Amino acid sequence: PRSIYLSRHGESMHNVGGMIGGDSPISPRGEKYASALPALVLENIGDAPIQVWTSTLQRTIATARHLPYPKKTWKSLDELDAGVCDGMTYEEIAEKYPEDYEARDDDKFNYRYRGGESYRDVIVRLEPVIMELERQDNILIICHQAIIRCLYGYFMGIPQAEIPYIKVPLHTLIKLSPRAYGCEEERYPLPI
Ligand code: F6P
Repeated sequence: PRSIYLSRHGESMHNVGGMIGGDSPISPRGEKYASALPALVLENIGDAPIQVWTSTLQRTIATARHLPYPKKTWKSLDELDAGVCDGMTYEEIAEKYPEDYEARDDDKFNYRYRGGESYRDVIVRLEPVIMELERQDNILIICHQAIIRCLYGYFMGIPQAEIPYIKVPLHTLIKLSPRAYGCEEERYPLPI
Protein backbone atom coordinates (compact mmCIF):
# COMPACT_ATOMS: atom_id res chain seq x y z
CA PRO A 1 0.00 0.00 0.00
CA ARG A 2 1.43 3.32 -1.02
CA SER A 3 1.56 6.53 0.93
CA ILE A 4 2.32 10.16 0.29
CA TYR A 5 4.31 11.80 3.06
CA LEU A 6 4.30 15.58 3.35
CA SER A 7 6.54 17.79 5.44
CA ARG A 8 7.45 21.43 5.54
CA HIS A 9 11.19 22.17 5.57
CA GLY A 10 12.83 22.54 8.96
CA GLU A 11 12.47 25.99 10.50
CA SER A 12 14.22 28.59 8.33
CA MET A 13 15.91 31.84 9.31
CA HIS A 14 13.01 33.66 7.59
CA ASN A 15 10.55 31.69 9.76
CA VAL A 16 12.45 32.88 12.82
CA GLY A 17 12.26 36.50 11.64
CA GLY A 18 8.62 36.28 10.49
CA MET A 19 9.52 37.05 6.85
CA ILE A 20 7.65 35.31 4.04
CA GLY A 21 9.14 33.69 0.94
CA GLY A 22 12.82 34.16 0.15
CA ASP A 23 15.49 31.49 0.02
CA SER A 24 16.97 31.53 3.52
CA PRO A 25 18.93 28.68 5.13
CA ILE A 26 17.46 26.55 7.90
CA SER A 27 17.96 27.57 11.55
CA PRO A 28 19.73 25.45 14.20
CA ARG A 29 16.27 24.18 15.19
CA GLY A 30 15.54 23.38 11.55
CA GLU A 31 18.82 21.44 11.42
CA LYS A 32 17.64 19.36 14.37
CA TYR A 33 14.51 18.46 12.45
CA ALA A 34 16.58 17.53 9.39
CA SER A 35 18.72 15.26 11.56
CA ALA A 36 15.71 13.61 13.25
CA LEU A 37 13.73 13.02 10.06
CA PRO A 38 15.58 9.90 8.76
CA ALA A 39 14.73 7.84 11.86
CA LEU A 40 11.07 8.91 11.74
CA VAL A 41 10.78 8.01 8.06
CA LEU A 42 12.58 4.68 8.52
CA GLU A 43 10.25 3.77 11.38
CA ASN A 44 7.32 4.35 9.06
CA ILE A 45 8.51 3.02 5.76
CA GLY A 46 10.78 0.16 6.86
CA ASP A 47 12.50 -1.31 3.82
CA ALA A 48 9.81 -0.27 1.30
CA PRO A 49 11.06 1.94 -1.54
CA ILE A 50 10.52 5.67 -1.25
CA GLN A 51 11.58 8.72 -3.24
CA VAL A 52 12.10 12.19 -1.78
CA TRP A 53 10.92 15.26 -3.66
CA THR A 54 11.95 18.77 -2.66
CA SER A 55 11.54 22.24 -4.09
CA THR A 56 14.54 24.07 -5.57
CA LEU A 57 14.87 26.24 -2.43
CA GLN A 58 17.77 25.56 -0.08
CA ARG A 59 15.61 25.10 3.04
CA THR A 60 13.93 22.01 1.56
CA ILE A 61 17.14 20.56 0.10
CA ALA A 62 18.93 21.01 3.44
CA THR A 63 16.03 19.37 5.30
CA ALA A 64 16.17 16.35 2.97
CA ARG A 65 19.92 15.98 2.90
CA HIS A 66 20.33 13.20 5.49
CA LEU A 67 17.63 11.01 3.94
CA PRO A 68 19.22 7.98 2.22
CA TYR A 69 16.74 7.76 -0.68
CA PRO A 70 16.63 8.85 -4.32
CA LYS A 71 15.82 12.56 -4.61
CA LYS A 72 14.27 14.86 -7.15
CA THR A 73 13.88 18.65 -7.04
CA TRP A 74 10.83 20.30 -8.58
CA LYS A 75 10.54 24.01 -9.36
CA SER A 76 6.75 23.45 -9.16
CA LEU A 77 7.17 22.71 -5.44
CA ASP A 78 8.69 26.14 -4.67
CA GLU A 79 6.71 28.27 -2.19
CA LEU A 80 3.87 30.51 -3.37
CA ASP A 81 5.54 33.51 -5.02
CA ALA A 82 4.73 36.60 -2.95
CA GLY A 83 5.98 38.94 -5.73
CA VAL A 84 6.78 42.43 -4.44
CA CYS A 85 6.06 41.23 -0.88
CA ASP A 86 8.70 38.49 -0.96
CA GLY A 87 10.94 38.75 2.10
CA MET A 88 8.58 41.07 4.02
CA THR A 89 6.78 40.42 7.33
CA TYR A 90 2.97 40.47 7.40
CA GLU A 91 3.19 43.73 9.39
CA GLU A 92 5.34 45.34 6.68
CA ILE A 93 2.88 44.21 4.01
CA ALA A 94 -0.07 45.63 5.96
CA GLU A 95 1.75 48.93 6.25
CA LYS A 96 3.11 49.22 2.72
CA TYR A 97 0.23 47.61 0.80
CA PRO A 98 -2.85 47.98 3.06
CA GLU A 99 -5.33 47.39 0.21
CA ASP A 100 -3.56 44.23 -0.85
CA TYR A 101 -3.44 43.03 2.72
CA GLU A 102 -7.20 43.51 3.01
CA ALA A 103 -7.93 41.98 -0.39
CA ARG A 104 -5.99 38.88 0.62
CA ASP A 105 -7.95 38.69 3.84
CA ASP A 106 -11.22 38.94 1.88
CA ASP A 107 -10.40 36.18 -0.61
CA LYS A 108 -7.18 34.43 0.29
CA PHE A 109 -7.63 31.66 -2.29
CA ASN A 110 -7.90 34.02 -5.28
CA TYR A 111 -5.72 36.91 -4.10
CA ARG A 112 -2.64 37.18 -6.32
CA TYR A 113 0.39 39.04 -4.95
CA ARG A 114 1.60 41.88 -7.20
CA GLY A 115 4.10 40.23 -9.48
CA GLY A 116 3.43 36.92 -7.75
CA GLU A 117 0.90 34.15 -7.31
CA SER A 118 -2.40 33.16 -5.74
CA TYR A 119 -3.31 29.82 -4.21
CA ARG A 120 -5.34 29.23 -7.37
CA ASP A 121 -2.18 29.78 -9.47
CA VAL A 122 -0.26 27.33 -7.28
CA ILE A 123 -2.86 24.61 -7.80
CA VAL A 124 -2.49 25.02 -11.57
CA ARG A 125 1.31 24.72 -11.43
CA LEU A 126 1.05 21.67 -9.18
CA GLU A 127 -0.87 19.71 -11.80
CA PRO A 128 2.19 17.91 -13.24
CA VAL A 129 3.37 17.06 -9.72
CA ILE A 130 -0.02 15.60 -8.86
CA MET A 131 -0.11 13.61 -12.10
CA GLU A 132 3.31 12.16 -11.37
CA LEU A 133 2.30 11.43 -7.76
CA GLU A 134 -0.67 9.38 -8.94
CA ARG A 135 1.75 7.13 -10.88
CA GLN A 136 4.34 6.62 -8.14
CA ASP A 137 4.76 4.42 -5.08
CA ASN A 138 5.77 5.97 -1.77
CA ILE A 139 6.85 9.59 -2.02
CA LEU A 140 8.05 11.99 0.67
CA ILE A 141 7.56 15.61 -0.33
CA ILE A 142 9.51 18.22 1.60
CA CYS A 143 8.30 21.64 0.62
CA HIS A 144 6.44 24.68 1.89
CA GLN A 145 3.36 25.74 3.81
CA ALA A 146 1.18 26.98 0.91
CA ILE A 147 2.23 24.10 -1.35
CA ILE A 148 1.45 21.47 1.27
CA ARG A 149 -1.94 23.11 1.86
CA CYS A 150 -2.71 22.71 -1.86
CA LEU A 151 -1.50 19.10 -2.09
CA TYR A 152 -3.22 18.13 1.15
CA GLY A 153 -6.41 19.92 0.07
CA TYR A 154 -6.38 18.06 -3.24
CA PHE A 155 -5.93 14.60 -1.71
CA MET A 156 -8.31 15.23 1.20
CA GLY A 157 -10.98 16.88 -0.95
CA ILE A 158 -10.97 20.15 1.02
CA PRO A 159 -13.07 22.98 -0.50
CA GLN A 160 -10.89 25.57 -2.29
CA ALA A 161 -11.80 28.48 -0.01
CA GLU A 162 -10.58 26.50 3.01
CA ILE A 163 -7.25 25.45 1.50
CA PRO A 164 -5.30 28.62 2.47
CA TYR A 165 -6.22 28.07 6.12
CA ILE A 166 -5.29 24.39 6.55
CA LYS A 167 -3.03 24.00 9.58
CA VAL A 168 0.38 22.68 8.53
CA PRO A 169 2.73 23.03 11.50
CA LEU A 170 6.51 22.91 11.18
CA HIS A 171 8.39 19.76 12.18
CA THR A 172 5.46 17.42 11.53
CA LEU A 173 5.36 14.53 9.10
CA ILE A 174 1.93 14.02 7.51
CA LYS A 175 1.13 10.62 6.01
CA LEU A 176 -1.69 10.30 3.49
CA SER A 177 -2.72 6.83 2.35
CA PRO A 178 -5.22 6.82 -0.52
CA ARG A 179 -8.14 4.45 0.06
CA ALA A 180 -11.13 3.56 -2.12
CA TYR A 181 -12.92 6.61 -0.73
CA GLY A 182 -10.63 9.50 0.20
CA CYS A 183 -7.36 9.31 2.12
CA GLU A 184 -6.42 8.06 5.52
CA GLU A 185 -4.29 10.55 7.45
CA GLU A 186 -1.71 10.25 10.19
CA ARG A 187 0.44 13.02 11.65
CA TYR A 188 3.78 12.57 13.38
CA PRO A 189 4.91 15.75 15.14
CA LEU A 190 8.52 15.84 16.31
CA PRO A 191 8.97 17.79 19.54
CA ILE A 192 11.85 19.94 18.31
O1 F6P B 1 5.80 32.01 6.50
C1 F6P B 1 6.11 30.83 5.87
C2 F6P B 1 5.41 30.75 4.52
O2 F6P B 1 5.73 29.52 3.93
C3 F6P B 1 5.78 31.90 3.55
O3 F6P B 1 6.96 31.70 2.84
C4 F6P B 1 4.56 31.94 2.68
O4 F6P B 1 4.40 33.14 1.96
C5 F6P B 1 3.47 31.71 3.68
O5 F6P B 1 3.99 30.84 4.66
C6 F6P B 1 2.21 31.13 3.10
O6 F6P B 1 1.21 31.16 4.08
P1 F6P B 1 0.03 32.23 3.98
O7 F6P B 1 -0.62 31.96 2.65
O8 F6P B 1 -0.86 31.88 5.15
O9 F6P B 1 0.59 33.61 4.05
